Amino acid sequence: MTVERTRVAIVGAGPAGLLLSHLLAAAGVESIVVDARSRQEIETTIRAGILEQGTVEVLDGIEGSRARTVGHRHDGIELRFAGEGHRIDFPSLVGRSVWLYPQHEVLKDLIAARLAAGQDLRFSASVTAVHDVDSEPRVVGTDSDGAPFEIRCDFVVGADGSRSVVRPAVAGDRGNGAFREYPFAWFGVLCEAAPSSDELIYSNAPDGFALISQRSETVQRMYFQCDPSTDPEALSEAEIWDALQRRVPGTHLTEGPIFQRDVLRFRSFVAGGLRRGRAALVGDAAHTVPPTGAKGMNLAIADVLLLGDALRRLLVEHDERGIDAYAETALRRIWKAQHFSWWMTSMLHAVPGADAFDRQRQLGELRGVIESEAGQRFLAEAYTGWPLPSSF
Ligand code: PHB
Repeated sequence: MTVERTRVAIVGAGPAGLLLSHLLAAAGVESIVVDARSRQEIETTIRAGILEQGTVEVLDGIEGSRARTVGHRHDGIELRFAGEGHRIDFPSLVGRSVWLYPQHEVLKDLIAARLAAGQDLRFSASVTAVHDVDSEPRVVGTDSDGAPFEIRCDFVVGADGSRSVVRPAVAGDRGNGAFREYPFAWFGVLCEAAPSSDELIYSNAPDGFALISQRSETVQRMYFQCDPSTDPEALSEAEIWDALQRRVPGTHLTEGPIFQRDVLRFRSFVAGGLRRGRAALVGDAAHTVPPTGAKGMNLAIADVLLLGDALRRLLVEHDERGIDAYAETALRRIWKAQHFSWWMTSMLHAVPGADAFDRQRQLGELRGVIESEAGQRFLAEAYTGWPLPSSF
């Protein structure tokens, strides 16, 4: 068993863990980042792609980040319902935009930058438990060769996603949190085709929801609402295209070979605690949102800005006020994002068992948003991102 010491042990090399290691290094605080996955797995797992303007500004501070150069700026989205499209124009409403730049590209940039800066970053190293978070934390697991390790540290951070192994030590089991399950999921595809739209289309159709997103001139990302028990392999390509075409009435989608398909489950979750003693949670380890509001990675970045500053104050200035306020401050934004993600989800999906009242009420809600500048601005503010705590 190897026993090592560092100041901050970060479990998880996703956007949250990697950004935190960058912020800590800038403050002169040493850390070790461990992740159970291989570098290849992290860099190829397909995830969502919308970055808030504030997230892009944070990434601009990282050497070699391509979010602004390779990513595409989007100045609006379209809400489509009752056979008509309605554009929400972000710059005129809130003076901000979003960028379409997939999460695995963000991860390639962050991993390259952290390795170039000499970060201790360990892939294929699985943490099995976290001990003594109330005194001197210890992180134990097995490294990429299967050898046991122990990392002793001043602070441990769970940035290890929705199946976090750090969470039980901070918040107890999953049942302690606030949880909402939805009676639908998204069937997601990547296909080889030209774009069918310049901007994202969020469509509420009688058969159910569809989202038309993009990746490049030759690859597109699209989703349609399905039953959570759907087997992604059970549908033929023709059936998939039929489902997509029917759900964006008014647009003929350019079809092409589908080379990747997946079913995304919908959950809302906030852990029962975000900090205990010398341990804290960030990102999906702390909360899950359904993808309709495009908030997942952005919320993780906001947590990390807050926690990074709190840890700098704790470990460099011996000032505990930031870490003591971390959970309460982070939760304010987390619950706003929870509400926004739940709201977009409930407003846009066909709810199984909905009657005529439910259906007409939903269309009334959508009209209330698009026919009111205040309604559009509420959506645009949330989608492009509320102000972030200033970084350091
Ligand atoms: C995506 O492009 O994968 C995407 C975009 C917006 C969302 C969810 C997913 O709300």
